Amino acid sequence: MKIFSLKGNKCFTIVLLLLVVLLDALHRTDFQPFKFQPKISSTIIYLKATTELPKVRSICNFSPLSPEDALEERLLLESVAWPETSELPSPLSLEQTSDPDHSTFYILPVRGRGEWHVGDQLEVSIVISDFKGQPKKFGGDLLLARLHNLTLGAGVAGQVVDHLNGSYSAVFPLLWEGAAQVEVTLVHPSEAITVLNRLTREQPDRVFFSSLFRSGSHSQTTFCNICLRQTKQPICDFTDPRNGDPWFCYKPNNMSCDARITHSFGGYKQNLKAKEDTLFQGGVNLKVCIAASGLAGVTVLPKKEGQPEVKSSIVNFQASGYYYQGLWRALDGTKVHQFTDASAITQCLKGKVVHLYGDSTIRQWFKFLNEALPDLKEFNLLGSSRRKGPFMALDYENQIMVTFRCHGPPIRFSNVSVGELRYIANELDDLFGGPNTVVVFGIWSHLSTFPLEVYIRRLQRIRSAVVRLLDRAPEMVIIIRTANPKALRLYETITNSDWFSVRRDKVLRAIFKGLNVHLIDAWEMVLAHHLPNNLHPQPPIIKNMMDVLFSYTCPQKGG
Ligand SMILES: *[C@@H]1O[C@H](CO)[C@@H](O)[C@H](O)[C@H]1NC(C)=O
Ligand SMILES: *[C@@H]1O[C@H](CO)[C@@H](O)[C@H](O)[C@H]1NC(C)=O
Ligand SMILES: *[C@@H]1O[C@H](CO)[C@@H](O)[C@H](O)[C@H]1NC(C)=O
Ligand SMILES: *[C@@H]1O[C@H](CO)[C@@H](O)[C@H](O)[C@H]1NC(C)=O
Repeated sequence: MKIFSLKGNKCFTIVLLLLVVLLDALHRTDFQPFKFQPKISSTIIYLKATTELPKVRSICNFSPLSPEDALEERLLLESVAWPETSELPSPLSLEQTSDPDHSTFYILPVRGRGEWHVGDQLEVSIVISDFKGQPKKFGGDLLLARLHNLTLGAGVAGQVVDHLNGSYSAVFPLLWEGAAQVEVTLVHPSEAITVLNRLTREQPDRVFFSSLFRSGSHSQTTFCNICLRQTKQPICDFTDPRNGDPWFCYKPNNMSCDARITHSFGGYKQNLKAKEDTLFQGGVNLKVCIAASGLAGVTVLPKKEGQPEVKSSIVNFQASGYYYQGLWRALDGTKVHQFTDASAITQCLKGKVVHLYGDSTIRQWFKFLNEALPDLKEFNLLGSSRRKGPFMALDYENQIMVTFRCHGPPIRFSNVSVGELRYIANELDDLFGGPNTVVVFGIWSHLSTFPLEVYIRRLQRIRSAVVRLLDRAPEMVIIIRTANPKALRLYETITNSDWFSVRRDKVLRAIFKGLNVHLIDAWEMVLAHHLPNNLHPQPPIIKNMMDVLFSYTCPQKGG
């Protein structure tokens, strides 16, 4: 089922669209889990208007959405559309690709005055050039920027704007007095994004999964995925009957689909074309800093009395928070308090149940609580593995209960028993609680290799469950952890690049906007910090995240 990215000539695109729907109807065999769905809104093919029909049909199965969800999905896809990146030269050479070493940035002077004050915005212009030193003429590179001062323990994320002509702007709010240093990082050249985009289009199954089936003395392992290629092998449809989350496995010979007993990470295929790995070289063109052509920093003076704040010419940007003296300060009105010892945390959580759902970045928080609270005792009667859980911990004296459960497939953990496979949406629907219940979830890292629609739909289902939960228990505290930038080598890039995360993160924020939920902005909290980007942020960052979590859970009146 297919969608076009609406680029170029719209009429041409619509003709193509009709053509594809027709071809699709003609070619479709009546295949059990993939029922024919004539609705255009639920169709996926990424196709440039300038290219031929793709040779590979999308292997992902998308069921129809309600008209509202389908419209939302289309708008979300448009809102995170990446600038069209160029075709790669063949044979591939780096010469004309973006080179951080030849690229520079400079700080723009403040209009009307020569000094910066707290409350102003700092604007930086970035010029990307290729390995021959020629400025690039188109955009699409992924850049991250932050403003920081190590001595002051200060840092804030910048907003990067792509001018689509090889130049970019980064904008930062000035929030502290003293020195502030700009850091600009090229995460990926646009050419690398061409490759990542193709991988998602052609190999959404490059990370694959397996299940063990067992019946009597028979057992067999088969491959499983959301996007499962059609072969002669029959397919078991494990789509969740309650919320519709899709999941498929090849059927084992001689055994019923009901014989599935585990879900595991199966492996990963790296199908890069010749020399494409040169676009993902640490120290060369993968997460490499860009140098300033002049000064890389400014000195920020105290806020001027009565001086109107300088508004950026590009975006009216406000970060969600910043570090000062190593402590996260929120800019959305939340007062972040320090919960410095076990007794402060225990006071906050006394009489409360905290449910954590998600991936290993949420599991880190369970671990934090267990280490921070000596009276919180973990139960592990089932011998759950350190990675997947489920976990439960209890402080009987203070009536505190904390649980962790990993989200449903796809989950890249080994050997999760099918009895433990739970979708967040279903868990929330089964939840009973009130003002003393805290629900925390985070889901991003294991969904990066699939088309964005997979993630959008997963979140739409979770949001519906959140809405129902808030109807049942309006005072329940619901906290969502966002994605974060990570350390990237080639493997991490192909399976979970920041480029996949950055757009999913935008989708997540949009989907939960306007609901009575709190966000913990892991993206900015990792980006703004001086410690290196990491899938699993280091303890000082986790400590700050937990302070935000406790501040949402136990807001202190009168600040
Ligand atoms: C790129 O576009 C920006 C914004 O329109 C403009 O300010 C800048 O001068 C352009 N740069 C080049 C090299 O054309
Ligand atoms: C941080 O700011 C202080 C005070 O303005 C300054 O003395 C120091 O050099 C700055 N450190 C860095 C690493 O920029
Ligand atoms: C299927 O089952 C039959 C009868 O139980 C058995 O003879 C045969 O070996 C099985 N085939 C496979 C592939 O397990
Ligand atoms: C996974 O668990 C099943 C059932 O407990 C067991 O039979 C199987 O050997 C395990 N597989 C791996 C790879 O550990």
